[in-house]
Amino acid sequence: MSHPVLDVIHARRSIRRYRPELPPETLLRTVLEAGRAAPSGGNSQSCHFLVIRSAAVLSRLRALVEACFASMEAGPDTYRSLRSSITLSKRGGYDFTLGAPVLVVAANQRGYGNALADTACALENMMLAAQALGLGSCWINQLHWLDDAPPVRAYLEALGLDPGETVCGGLALGWPDQSPAPIEHTGNRVDWIDADVELPG
Ligand SMILES: Cc1cc2nc3c(=O)[nH]c(=O)nc-3n(C[C@H](O)[C@H](O)[C@H](O)COP(=O)(O)O)c2cc1C
Repeated sequence: MSHPVLDVIHARRSIRRYRPELPPETLLRTVLEAGRAAPSGGNSQSCHFLVIRSAAVLSRLRALVEACFASMEAGPDTYRSLRSSITLSKRGGYDFTLGAPVLVVAANQRGYGNALADTACALENMMLAAQALGLGSCWINQLHWLDDAPPVRAYLEALGLDPGETVCGGLALGWPDQSPAPIEHTGNRVDWIDADVELPG
């Protein structure tokens, strides 16, 4: 079935190459408003977004993140993506922002049980809004992993993160400089239950 919303959902891909110029203010505000309109547990609306457009701030953040990862060691059980951030940082020149001109840091209240779920709803709304407007986006998780790394934490608090907030995720945003082909989704299993099933035992 075809519908403009469904078309946007199915056309979205994570963009990992961006043009350097900043998208217009009105487009960025529209993306952020889509995030703010997301559902939240108990209508808490407690997400907090830091929208970083300063190239100088992005550059400082990149350096702090690279230094943090470079000081870490990956073990046999280290999550694959985290291992890759550590390896690339040790090599030098690691850019966790993927060269995007805008980074949205998405935070929520520490200890709030729906923090990740609410933030994911908001970030997905933003990814779809970006797609609808011709912008590219990609979820960026490095600041979530480094939420408690003192130098990164201190800098994010200097940028406006509240000490009671935890970084749940992030979003690279900008004009895409690549057009990845759609991917086939074979995971995310679905079971349909259409007939009565008796209780076990
Ligand atoms: C919770 C979450 C964390 C992710 N973290 C990163 C990340 O840190 N860096 C990155 O390049 N992509 C990240 N991604 C993007 C996924 O790699 C991507 O969604 C997946 O490979 C499917 O590709 P698609 O988004 O193009 O459909 C993340 C996605 C999600 C939902």
